[in-house]
Amino acid sequence: MSNIDLIDRLAADGVLAEEEFTELLATYTAADRDYAAALAYRIARGQFGTQLHAWGVIDLTNHCSKDCFYCGLCRSNEALERYRLSTEDVLRCCAEGHDLGIRTFVLQAAEDPEFGDDVADDLIWRVRKGFPDSAIALSFGERSRAAYQRYFDAGADRYLLRHETADAEHFAQLHPRRSTLANRIRCLEDLKSIGFETGCGMMVGTPYQTPLRLARDLLFIADFDPALVTVGPFLPSSSTKFTGSPAGSVEKTLFMLSLVRIILPDADLPVMTSIATAHPRGREMAVMAGANVVLPNLTPPADRAKYSLYDGRVTLGRDAAEGLTILMKRMAAIGYTLASDRGERQRRKR
Ligand code: 5AD
Repeated sequence: MSNIDLIDRLAADGVLAEEEFTELLATYTAADRDYAAALAYRIARGQFGTQLHAWGVIDLTNHCSKDCFYCGLCRSNEALERYRLSTEDVLRCCAEGHDLGIRTFVLQAAEDPEFGDDVADDLIWRVRKGFPDSAIALSFGERSRAAYQRYFDAGADRYLLRHETADAEHFAQLHPRRSTLANRIRCLEDLKSIGFETGCGMMVGTPYQTPLRLARDLLFIADFDPALVTVGPFLPSSSTKFTGSPAGSVEKTLFMLSLVRIILPDADLPVMTSIATAHPRGREMAVMAGANVVLPNLTPPADRAKYSLYDGRVTLGRDAAEGLTILMKRMAAIGYTLASDRGERQRRKR
């Protein structure tokens, strides 16, 4: 069966066998990639039209107790200047974003022990109360089921926790021993069963990744059926174990993004900052390959550079307003406008 036939069958069935995904990922050509992107783009246009949702990202804290081998925020990176926003700072960022028309706030935090459940819970309540017409998405990492339930009860709608890799041995090659894929999956299952619109995702091009391991990511995604998925290239970060490892391929990242869109026609697939960092037209290419959400950054400009997951993380504009203007101008050039609602899904409950 040709790769084009495999992609068509993926569109019809929503999944392929592990050997088929592996074969596709090991042998695809530029033509196969273009074919998948065109199909993914048509699917996204059919689902979302020419409107993009803009989710405003606020990076709350870069203090981290974890030591993931790929991440510039890892605890052992002593060169990094650490910061933590106050609840008032965050509410100001939300207000600024709301004035600009943003109706989803992504509250993102490294695994900061000082940013405990009580602080998080209080913050969510206050954002919920202050912005009743907006969706709240959280990315606070691995926490207990009880904590996730509190966040949900406080009014959070979405939760993003990348699985990073669905292969346990690969997961162990990317993380210190006390982090396990089993716990990541436990978190994802808890989040989904609590009722969050749950997101998983992975980097493309991490050390030790293989076509088989990427195939397992796609099988996991097809099975877990998340409401959102984030896919971005691995980009090396100085002061980490993987300094000097090559960056992931932009083309392969886009191919993975398109395959995810074909598997999950109605999922939210954000354009990640990592793809924008890896290629000057990364945002546009991601939208043309099936993405439907953009992520303007609302973090105060003075702290933005300190959320350095990898080297050279780009941000647009001097502040949130200028960043959003530049972003939407660029999206207008490829035929998109900004949606004004929070992205309520008229979709099946996941
Ligand atoms: N390159 C790309 N993405 C990274 N992340 C962390 N470090 C890197 C890197 N070096 C991503 C991880 C994590 C998210 C917060 O950022 O996938 O889940």
